[in-house]
Amino acid sequence: MTQTLTLTVDRKTHVLAVSPNIPLLNVLRNDLALNGPKYGCGLGECGACSVLVDGMAARACVIPVSSVVGRDVTTLEGLVVDGRLDPVQQAFIDAQAAQCGYCLNGMIMTVRALLNRTPMATATQLRTALEYNLCRCGTHIEILAAAQRAVI
Ligand code: FES
Repeated sequence: MTQTLTLTVDRKTHVLAVSPNIPLLNVLRNDLALNGPKYGCGLGECGACSVLVDGMAARACVIPVSSVVGRDVTTLEGLVVDGRLDPVQQAFIDAQAAQCGYCLNGMIMTVRALLNRTPMATATQLRTALEYNLCRCGTHIEILAAAQRAVI
């Protein structure tokens, strides 16, 4: 059964008729055409679907959409403000951290969440924050270098 929910995503208000228990990821991708968050495992384990909810990293594949009513959701797209990339996004480009790129949404959102609360994060803190974000290409070294570049 659908309900009318009001969501705040990337600083915009959306009024949507959706099932309240559907994963947030489905609504972002299918209803709002925000394809930064990726579908990986669908189980909350890989991190590909990560978004920010009130500035904290969250896995959109396992969050019911109704749970983010009244909260601020930010996607990879929403990190861009007035056409300017977030410094974390820019760092990942500058470090050429992508191989296939599928995991990068989760990597970038996780680093952004960490830097929101710990702007001068250490290499150990970055590594710990990214511990549960999976990269099947094995580009973890480049990803960690990009994350380090985003600090400062
Ligand atoms: Fe959400 Fe893997 S798709 S954690």
